[in-house]
Amino acid sequence: MTYTSDEKHFELTVNGSKHQVKDSFLGASLLSVLRDHIGMTGSKGACEEGECGSCSVLLDGNLVCSCLVLAASVTQSSIVTIEGLGGATDVQQAFVECGAIQCGFCSPGLVMAATNLLDRNPDPDVDDVREALAGNLCRCTGYGRILDAVQVAVDGRKRNKL
Ligand code: FES
Ligand code: FES
Repeated sequence: MTYTSDEKHFELTVNGSKHQVKDSFLGASLLSVLRDHIGMTGSKGACEEGECGSCSVLLDGNLVCSCLVLAASVTQSSIVTIEGLGGATDVQQAFVECGAIQCGFCSPGLVMAATNLLDRNPDPDVDDVREALAGNLCRCTGYGRILDAVQVAVDGRKRNKL
């Protein structure tokens, strides 16, 4: 961990870039620092207690709830947010095509979780998908279209491999 003399300065590696974090409470969550200090507002805060998954990011390749991670404790880690996926990915396009987005608050977390699943397992069955998305709550869609969207992304990746 890197501190300046005022002990309120540390550095995070987000989406491959270094970000100096100043004026942050050392007990601040990663979600809070991403949104309020780095300006990456793609990760959403809904419950802020690890229940909804809307704040999901990758920490050294593992999906985590950023609201439960102390930002100052992950200065040596690689953090990937929804912004780091690059936009208009196959998974994002599948969500749009299938109408898997209503208010959109859950969508960044679901896209992170679905992308992480497909990167780990290119041929998930429906139970694999349900398990991978089990930590992501959606209050709007009823989940059917979200499951459809993940299947569209799976099928698309398979076609692209042929
Ligand atoms: S805001 Fe982090 S799990 Fe809900
Ligand atoms: S689309 Fe509204 S919470 Fe999921």
